[in-house]
Amino acid sequence: MDDATTADRPAFPPGFRWGAATAAFQIEGSTDADGRGPSVWDVFSHTPGRVLEGANADVAADSYRRYRDDVALLGELGATDYRFSISWSRVQPGGTGPANEPGLDYYERVVDALLDAGIAPLPTLFHWDLPQPLEEAGGWLARDTATRFGDFVELVLARLGDRVPRWITLNEPSMMTLQGYALGTQAPGHALMLGALPTAHHQLLAHGLAVAAIRAAGEAEVGITNNHTLVVPATDAPADVAAAGAFDAVVNRVFAGPVLTGAYPDLSGFGLDTFPGLQHGDLDVIGAPLDFYGVNFYNPTRVAAASAGSVFAAAGLPFEPVDFDDVPVTGFGWPIVPAAFTDVLVALQDDYGDRLPPIVITENGASFPDEVVGGRVHDVRRIAYFDAHIGAVRRAIELGVDVHGYLAWSLIDNFEWAEGYTQRFGLVHVDFETGVRTPKDSFTWYRELIARERAAH
Ligand code: NOJ
Repeated sequence: MDDATTADRPAFPPGFRWGAATAAFQIEGSTDADGRGPSVWDVFSHTPGRVLEGANADVAADSYRRYRDDVALLGELGATDYRFSISWSRVQPGGTGPANEPGLDYYERVVDALLDAGIAPLPTLFHWDLPQPLEEAGGWLARDTATRFGDFVELVLARLGDRVPRWITLNEPSMMTLQGYALGTQAPGHALMLGALPTAHHQLLAHGLAVAAIRAAGEAEVGITNNHTLVVPATDAPADVAAAGAFDAVVNRVFAGPVLTGAYPDLSGFGLDTFPGLQHGDLDVIGAPLDFYGVNFYNPTRVAAASAGSVFAAAGLPFEPVDFDDVPVTGFGWPIVPAAFTDVLVALQDDYGDRLPPIVITENGASFPDEVVGGRVHDVRRIAYFDAHIGAVRRAIELGVDVHGYLAWSLIDNFEWAEGYTQRFGLVHVDFETGVRTPKDSFTWYRELIARERAAH
């Protein structure tokens, strides 16, 4: 499929939503302010050897104190929506019990500032920063964490439910399971391989309980954000094709299937006849209808059969990700293949059909090593990435996929988890020493695109 660009395409559908995304732990800093408790990411990032260059997010992009600057940037961008996340550890420092009102006050200030600027707040209720006391009680391996999450969501709704039009329950539960519990490369840092699977189920149950709480509280819309990658077999050899299918099942389908169809994919190839942790009635909770389905897309993944002696084979996994040949990459080394974005969206439509609500792209973007020169950041490669990927979304819409919005990752440079501050994804450069924000050329490019699209209707 040819890559499309935004320049050679007609306007997006009327009412299409445009904006950018961030997450609490990655931008806020002020980790001790106003009664906030520690999250798994505070503990992980303060553990030597876990994050590149020993970085932590104690200050990060300082958005807890500079949120008004960020809202002003969104206004300048012409954004219709802002996706940010709510830190559970600010609202309920111990993960249980009554609300810490000053924590809710902060999010109320953010929400009201957005509404005053005519920007729709789109909060994510969980973007990976579990309160540390809940980790000590078992984290996502414990079913009770799902119940705790439902309680936390009720506290947030009691304060903000009257003015937030749309909620996202969880961000990328697959990465929490894979990196946080299977490989241990992200917080909380457990390397349990297939033993991590119950954390997928408990997060999905938490999602379902949050949906029920949001439905009970009023008319707001609700969705989940899953990341999706196009899985490409390394060769046509049956072992590679089977490995790609297995990878697709655990990375994509385990998280989309229960939410969209109320059923897990077949995992008999992993020796499983039922999903670890699943109890009677759970799938009804998890599969409750949604108003939108959030998709994060960054890159496709090429997969081969696990080679003998690899860590994957040693862990009993049949697959192994391998590099693409001759494909350009981002600063992270992630392959840049915009047509894969169209393919992912079309495949979601084909696979889930009527069960798939309208899609909102809740993240898409690329890291590059940016520099401020003479007060400007000439991030031409990021512009090319956005141009081609927004074009790929447009192509999917032309092919019949119902996409209602696109949010760039990220509004501002931020703490990129285990990579610390080494990967910059922002439309706006942040000087992490001073907190100074400098819009990059990609910001101007995106602002012009949004203005064009909004004026077209
Ligand atoms: C997905 C995650 O939701 C976000 O937190 C992260 O920064 C981006 N991917 C880039 O890795």
